Amino acid sequence: MCGIVGYVGRGEPSGRPLDVVMEGLGRLEYRGYDSAGVALVTPQGLQWAKRAGKLTNLSQALERRPPAPATAAIGHTRWATHGAPTDVNAHPHISQDGKLALIHNGIIENFNTLKEELLADGVSFLSETDTEVAAHLLSRAFDRLGDLTEAMRAVTRELEGAFTLLAVHADMPRTVVGARRNSPLVVGLGDGENFLGSDVAAFISHTRSALELGQDQIVTITPDSVEVIDGDGVPVEVKAFTVDWDASAAVKGGFRTFMEKEIHEQPKAVADTLLGRTTVGGHLTLDELRIDEVVLRSVDKIVVIACGTAAYAGHVAKYAIEHWCRIPVEVELAHEFRYRDPVVNEKTLVVAISQSGETMDTIMAVRHAREQGSKVLAVVNTHGSTIPRESDAVLYTHAGPEVAVASTKAFLAQITACYLLGLYLAQLRGNMYQDEIGRILAELALMPERIQRVVDNEEQVRKLAHSMKDVTSVLFLGRHVGFPVAMEGALKLKELAYIHAEGFAAGELKHGPIALVDVGTPVFVIVPSPRGRDHLHAKVVSNIQEVRARGARTLVIAEDGDAAVEPFADVVIRVPQTPTLLAPLVTVVPLQIFACELAAAKGLDVDQPRNLAKSVTVE
Ligand code: AGP
Repeated sequence: MCGIVGYVGRGEPSGRPLDVVMEGLGRLEYRGYDSAGVALVTPQGLQWAKRAGKLTNLSQALERRPPAPATAAIGHTRWATHGAPTDVNAHPHISQDGKLALIHNGIIENFNTLKEELLADGVSFLSETDTEVAAHLLSRAFDRLGDLTEAMRAVTRELEGAFTLLAVHADMPRTVVGARRNSPLVVGLGDGENFLGSDVAAFISHTRSALELGQDQIVTITPDSVEVIDGDGVPVEVKAFTVDWDASAAVKGGFRTFMEKEIHEQPKAVADTLLGRTTVGGHLTLDELRIDEVVLRSVDKIVVIACGTAAYAGHVAKYAIEHWCRIPVEVELAHEFRYRDPVVNEKTLVVAISQSGETMDTIMAVRHAREQGSKVLAVVNTHGSTIPRESDAVLYTHAGPEVAVASTKAFLAQITACYLLGLYLAQLRGNMYQDEIGRILAELALMPERIQRVVDNEEQVRKLAHSMKDVTSVLFLGRHVGFPVAMEGALKLKELAYIHAEGFAAGELKHGPIALVDVGTPVFVIVPSPRGRDHLHAKVVSNIQEVRARGARTLVIAEDGDAAVEPFADVVIRVPQTPTLLAPLVTVVPLQIFACELAAAKGLDVDQPRNLAKSVTVE
């Protein structure tokens, strides 16, 4: 989810390329990032600057040492995936001869193999990034082919994974070449100048005329031309469009709020979290999970520590990991963990789940766990944050920057990462056969498309939210993995719409909470698959009847084809058929949309709800 900008213009070398690129990076600032850099093609050759930290660090470096007037430029804000956020790891990455610069968004899955080949060939590396591998490959291809477009085409055929690449070369001063696969890249069309960007926000103040590039296409821009070819070098026609968003909307991808944008990014967040972690035949490779296999085999208890939404992801993980690995899993609110004198030791694996990696409650719990001798594995979204730095190992979620305070895509990515952890442990400890793991991974690979289908059905949920905008209390019921989903649905509604909302284990209802149910009380019920755990489905259907009999308005989330719920449901919201343990990835989505839309209907600030912070860095 890095920010990418490219520019090329006619006329004498000037300060415009740098100005356009820096302004574009500023517009992409919402993406959040940990470093930034630019490269410029000038008559004096290639010049570049890159700094860790915010864009102002780069701006100050450029003010201290202004680059020469240029004819072309590329710029990048980095959301680290491989390599800590440092000056050296920041983009652009430069070829050994200092004539080529490359910036990259995405993950090159086979970079280790390619890097070994380059090292064997005598290439020296400065950074820990996957991107630098592509930079050296591109430079060698340019030296061989003498053309940047052809070099890009040759290199992208060697790369596996997801990427947007932009490159410039000192010997082609009025050219920028880009390529994309499973990662966005759009072209901005100007008069005597052209632009590239990871989204239209990069150039919207200069042009609203744009081209959307397709999969595995390579684009070459000069001041007066834009040429697009496919991987075979065949010219292709691309779709032109006019950007009708204002600048503010552009940074939200045309959505009204970041939360809406991030709800829609969930299929990609799950897909990116899965990317590069499984091989054909279902073998898991969590190579960044650096805890000794002997230690992992000796683990006799797992304790998840987290807060808020992250804790609910931990609750979903509990059901899956216990079922697959037969290891007891406790889920503890981080702020409670160290005050209860937890029984943890060197045989306990503590899993700290956090989007920001800066939640002080969780940081303090991590420190306490390590003092007790436990190994700590961080499941975190923000590279280089405190929690992974203070843990023994990390399994990053690749949800990209999450701007809205209310967590959505990070939640689904956390659940996905925990599924991978559970399957990895089952593989390592021999609790499951490889073919059993392979079947679950095959189902996980289908989840992005299933999530997309729920997101595509959002209109029904939006209308329901508008019809309920004056509601003052909502209950949420679920069983098994539906229980943490009920809790998360209630939390979303509380933090966004500022109304009373409560999630319950459906079986708990008759032990007291059912007294809350009155005529018209809206009750969401998350119904498990009828093909899943025996009796679970039937029991939840009877819970629907219990509340309906007392006058509740039943809002039921159920699988496609589940007819059993219809006689007792005032509203049925359908989700695709999904294996029981994976269902939270789809059943929570309508609840996110509902809370988001109800808050919008009430005119509230969806992205920055009152009293809340995106990262709670105090205890
Ligand atoms: C979720 O929507 C809230 N923003 C909050 O509960 C959040 O999940 C919690 O504060 C934990 O944050 P973290 O994941 O960054 O540690």
